[in-house]
Amino acid sequence: MRVIIRKTYEEISLAAANLVKARIKKKPELILGLATGSTPVKLYQELIRMYQEEKLRFVFVKSFNLDEYYGLSSDHPQSYRCFMNTRFFDHIDIDKANTHIPDGRTKDPEEFSAWYEEQIRGMGGIDLQLLGIGSDGHIGFNEPGSSFSSRTRLVALDAQTVSDNARFFERKEDVPLSAITMGIGTILEAKELILLASGESKAEVVAAAIEGPLSSMIPASALQLHPRVTLFLDETAASALTRKRYYHFAEESEQNLGRELF
Ligand code: PGA
Repeated sequence: MRVIIRKTYEEISLAAANLVKARIKKKPELILGLATGSTPVKLYQELIRMYQEEKLRFVFVKSFNLDEYYGLSSDHPQSYRCFMNTRFFDHIDIDKANTHIPDGRTKDPEEFSAWYEEQIRGMGGIDLQLLGIGSDGHIGFNEPGSSFSSRTRLVALDAQTVSDNARFFERKEDVPLSAITMGIGTILEAKELILLASGESKAEVVAAAIEGPLSSMIPASALQLHPRVTLFLDETAASALTRKRYYHFAEESEQNLGRELF
């Protein structure tokens, strides 16, 4: 696991955007796994800026989002489809037909989930998956207790997640109680993973995920099983890590060896 620590949220967002840009430059038809939530917002703003100012192109990129609330239609303002369109897709040259987000209104979640997995497989798998981390350690909407080999499916949301996400809804009662999410097994099949975390409220769970034992109670600890993961943490999110000096040293050593960070 590579751990990149920067002072601010803005700096980690830019660093992560630079990684995404490098991967798209190398493979214009990248299959990109995307995430929602407040954490990736600035990363998407940076990618939009790179599109406008640095000729970064998304025309050949295809995307798959991690998850969607179950019960919300795609035009609901709090749906993740709406989030992705307004925060990212509407501002770049991606073909919306190439963007995939689980259908929150499907009548048959099981059949839909199998179809979603098939789409990912059929395109050769996800090259680069972006992730955030929930304050309960979830990735996607894989709540504590999710199997490390879980696949895309309908899941019940943890009370902690419902409470964390209530800030986006007018009333707490409006927060959906379930979602369709890629499984941890699905996420681990992506060829490369990046996870961003910002803020004090993530410090303990980030430390548990990176430096604690593998445990389904901390779903993000499953990332320890993946050979190619970069974590971008701001100083507050990194504040409970015990091996910060090593992570800085490892990054410096890479640079001293003349290796490109990304
Ligand atoms: P957040 O959510 O970015 O809004 O903190 C992260 C997540 O739930 O994955």
